Amino acid sequence: MHTVKEYIEKNKKRFINELIDLLKIPSISADTAFSQDVLNTADSIMKSLKEAGCDKVELCETPGYPIIYGEKIIDTNLPTVLVYGHYDVQPADPLELWDSPPFEPVIKKTELHPEGAIFARGACDDKGQMYMHVKALEYMTSEGNLPCNVKFMIEGEEEVGSESLAWFVPRNVEKLANDVILISDTGMIANDIPSITTGLRGLSYVEVEVTGPNRDLHSGLYGGAVANPINILTKMIASLHDENNHITIPGFYDKVEELSQEERNEMAKAPFSLEEYKNALDIDDVYGEKGYTTNERNSIRPTLDVNGIWGGYIGEGAKTVIASKAYAKISMRLVPNQDWEEITTLFKSHFESIAADSVKVKVTPHHGGQGYVTPIDSIGYQAASKAYQETFGVTPIPQRSGGSIPIVALFEKELKSKTILMGFGLNSDAIHSPNEHFGIWNYLKGIETIPYFYKYFSELHK
Ligand code: BES
Ligand code: MN
Ligand code: MN
Repeated sequence: MHTVKEYIEKNKKRFINELIDLLKIPSISADTAFSQDVLNTADSIMKSLKEAGCDKVELCETPGYPIIYGEKIIDTNLPTVLVYGHYDVQPADPLELWDSPPFEPVIKKTELHPEGAIFARGACDDKGQMYMHVKALEYMTSEGNLPCNVKFMIEGEEEVGSESLAWFVPRNVEKLANDVILISDTGMIANDIPSITTGLRGLSYVEVEVTGPNRDLHSGLYGGAVANPINILTKMIASLHDENNHITIPGFYDKVEELSQEERNEMAKAPFSLEEYKNALDIDDVYGEKGYTTNERNSIRPTLDVNGIWGGYIGEGAKTVIASKAYAKISMRLVPNQDWEEITTLFKSHFESIAADSVKVKVTPHHGGQGYVTPIDSIGYQAASKAYQETFGVTPIPQRSGGSIPIVALFEKELKSKTILMGFGLNSDAIHSPNEHFGIWNYLKGIETIPYFYKYFSELHK
């Protein structure tokens, strides 16, 4: 029998090559041009789960992309871990900003990854992190030391809102029954400062359209006399924050959970260098809600951001025109207790109310989801903490993340179990950005740590 370290040492070349093959398939869920690739990725995951020792693997059809379900049930008296991950990835644009093609993975060393990192779209989010679980399962089954039952549920629409999974979960409550949900789709502070994600923010994502005149107009003949939708839209957007960077939508903060000073002090103990933060982003100063630190601003506080804005003439040279329409995509990150549907309604009525009479405003909700916090006194958290202590040699820090995995709140509601977020990525891994990468060290460390979670969870469950 091999220790997990020995097993990884013996198989690491293959582990890396298998991940590289998976990363070559452009499974972009947002763009239908890639739908065959998304489906091919689903097939590839099925094959991997079978090879890793699942007794039953199914491709579950949904109204959208399929969900891959796999299980190995060794004894129904033992606890069951449900692993969730996603096989879809974000679009790779803007392509010209990548140093190497996004779907031709290459290994390069970086300052934070001296042992090399795999550069490809999805390397960290989430193919690399999801695949750690497949390889951890392979180790446990091939060495005969899987201590409990395991189920896998890997979806293909996380990056576009998990609509099909939200359809699938309530219809399969029995099948998905579990004692804890385990996800690696977040990050940690640093390779020598491991952390466990204890919170995720919720999300409300809307698109707005402002319409002025019924056609594009000559900006000399009409300028000054009719509303310019781009001028109006930018003014409306600017008014959504006040001089302290508080969001001005009435009722927006009503349900926001305020942390006690004690909890905030606890949070502030996590190692953080504002200088390094600024340097890494090439900014002279940070920016955000008055009265809160950078780490608070991006985790326990709700935010509103324009993700994209367009309209009018953006081609070469100058065209004198007043556009008929202007658009923006706006997201609001929410904290526990804020209800995303309620916030979407508040946004819509506020945005419509601040529009000048000279324009028409349309607000179209995209998707959303609730925030999530997981307690640190659960046996799931304790098992995760012990697992990190085993492989990193230090106790991991609990930390709330600013990102969102909206389906996690639904898991709790439908499946009545807590989620443990064991993320092994770094913020600098550039997820959703050009040159996304995942450290080889992180990938292998994840594979090493996961089996200890199973071990300690099974022990603590008794
Ligand atoms: N894996 C991320 C979320 C994440 C990353 C959480 C790092 C915490 C730390 C996930 O794939 C993601 O990108 N989620 C989206 C929301 C989704 C509805 C498109 C997000 O957070 O923008
Ligand atoms: Mn993800
Ligand atoms: Mn993502």
